[in-house]
Amino acid sequence: MTSGNRDRNGLMRHVESLAAAMMPTPLVPLADERLDLYAKLEFSNFSGSAKDRSALWILRQAILREQVTRKSVLVESSSGNFAIALASLCASLGLEFVPVIDSNVNRSTENFLRALSSRVERVHDIDDTGGFLKSRLRRVQDLRAELPDSYWPNQYANTDGADAHYRFTASELCDALDRITHVFVGVGTAGTIAGLSRRLKKTDPRVRVIAVDVEGSVIFGGTPGRRRIPGIGSSIIPPLLQHALIDETLLVSEYASIVGCIQLWQRHGIFAGGSSGSVYAAVQRYFAGYRGPRPRVVFLCADRGNAYADTVFNPQWVAETYPERIDDVLISSTASV
Ligand SMILES: Cc1ncc(COP(=O)(O)O)c(C=O)c1O
Repeated sequence: MTSGNRDRNGLMRHVESLAAAMMPTPLVPLADERLDLYAKLEFSNFSGSAKDRSALWILRQAILREQVTRKSVLVESSSGNFAIALASLCASLGLEFVPVIDSNVNRSTENFLRALSSRVERVHDIDDTGGFLKSRLRRVQDLRAELPDSYWPNQYANTDGADAHYRFTASELCDALDRITHVFVGVGTAGTIAGLSRRLKKTDPRVRVIAVDVEGSVIFGGTPGRRRIPGIGSSIIPPLLQHALIDETLLVSEYASIVGCIQLWQRHGIFAGGSSGSVYAAVQRYFAGYRGPRPRVVFLCADRGNAYADTVFNPQWVAETYPERIDDVLISSTASV
């Protein structure tokens, strides 16, 4: 056996052991007058978010295909959680990783990345849609040109990321519940919704998949604008969206997301991040005034609230950031896309 093969087999064994350690996340029933409501706590994954699923599977598949070797330098744009997941995995596997982040990234996230990666690139230029993604992606391309043996997972287009949610997140839901009537999913790269929707609809085509996006994001044709909550929303239409089977989309304001976070915390004791608040707000709005038979509704809590202590959970930041205080919790909704 050549040393190259030995290296690859060693890396493969190591990443497989990490995959074997990935446990199903809890699915908790929440008290609700009208709904059988369940929250899937994706923040229970090993580095604290749903992105552990996609990062691990993307990396495993890239090692399997020999796109990633011991010499590789991984380069990726992330609003935080994907970078944290990849940084943790790369540190464990002894691989170099250069995360490309932006000024919206939580301070604790940036500190974590700087502790694990010797080089972190931070962009400051707001792009023509009011976000940072295009600037981050430009920086990724510069780094790829600069670094020999670079590998770009490209989480916005990599179908292995969606496959992770098909194989793991959605399979866990199908094993846990015999029928789901509605699933609400926040969208960023669309990897989660692509994998979940395909697997859930394969099991039961009647399930309604509701995509949740935030004001200022362009994913579903919204007007581009400044966004401050990382994770959910995007300043591009992610290529993975074409793989998602979506019945309806709901657009939530950032302020509504914050209210959703506080309600989720105070009513149910779930201390979750901004996108979980967006999705919880969307569930509440969707079923406002509903009086029919109890639907069985699932939503995902993609990350924990800790990283949002200085923003979403800081009343002073909220008052300064949203002085206009938008009253309508949900600003618009569209029918099937
Ligand atoms: C907190 C949070 N919520 C939601 C999402 C959206 O998930 P996806 O990128 O799979 O669409 C992300 C993605 O980074 C996230 O970090």
